[in-house]
Amino acid sequence: MKNKLSVSNLLGIKYISLEDIYSIFDAAETFKEVINRKIKKVPSLRDITIANLFFENSTRTKISFELAQKRLSADVVNFSSSGSSIKKGETLADTVNNILSMKVDMIVIRHPSPGASVFLSKNVKSCIINAGDGCHEHPTQALLDAFTLKSKLKDFSNKNILIVGDILHSRVALSNILVFKKLGANVKVCGPLSLIPKYIKTLGVEYEPSLENGLKWCHVASMLRIQNERMNQSYFPTTREYAKQFGLNLNKLSQCDKDIIITHPGPINRGVELSTDLIDSGRTVILDQVENGVAVRMAVLYLLASKL
Ligand code: CP
Repeated sequence: MKNKLSVSNLLGIKYISLEDIYSIFDAAETFKEVINRKIKKVPSLRDITIANLFFENSTRTKISFELAQKRLSADVVNFSSSGSSIKKGETLADTVNNILSMKVDMIVIRHPSPGASVFLSKNVKSCIINAGDGCHEHPTQALLDAFTLKSKLKDFSNKNILIVGDILHSRVALSNILVFKKLGANVKVCGPLSLIPKYIKTLGVEYEPSLENGLKWCHVASMLRIQNERMNQSYFPTTREYAKQFGLNLNKLSQCDKDIIITHPGPINRGVELSTDLIDSGRTVILDQVENGVAVRMAVLYLLASKL
């Protein structure tokens, strides 16, 4: 297993190299084998203490990081902003510095503000892992998505990946675009024009207004959640119209003459971006993504801990 990353924090895909991505994949392959054993635990992070700071809701990322840490034998503390002294006005940097003074070695943070993990990396002395910062980046999600696709596609060159939905508010969209482009794939985005950022072309990504045309072009359809919690106005007429134009179902898939790989980072709005018949058909790799998330996060934690 390669033992070096070029970075001491994981703040976003934009900060890591292609070599870093392959080092994480190599380590994740090893840890995937470990977590499929009867005894799913290794002592790699014994005596390392990690704090998971979640200032925003999470199911998958929070549980996946905690399982990854426990399977590496780290000591784990969990913090959520509700019930904490943040409610009394304590700043983010003061909160984290107080937690670090209790001999915590690594911080995993999810925060609603874009740039929160970059801010922390400049203001506290610790290893920082971004578990999603507002509509900016979600690097471990992108790495687990790419790791899942690598097992199916083998090679990303000449592969076409269509990212569909709410690109504007999605941290997964930006991290996925960056990781897929670094790996050599072609990327297009599809969705209502109102949900496509104006800077999209600067990322080397084309806009495809028609889902049907996008499906003819792609090997992978990465379906993203409508981020209702980040919208303060309406971006499309009705959810029903959105589902009709940009939602994926078994009928639309049956009109394609190839097996497209369908991903979704979760949580899913059933009946909006994906129909219930498609979700329940076994035609997606959504649960593979979740399963691989633990191995990928073990890899990230292991490689960053080796730099402490
Ligand atoms: N994919 C993802 O980040 O899910 P959670 O919000 O449940 O962590």
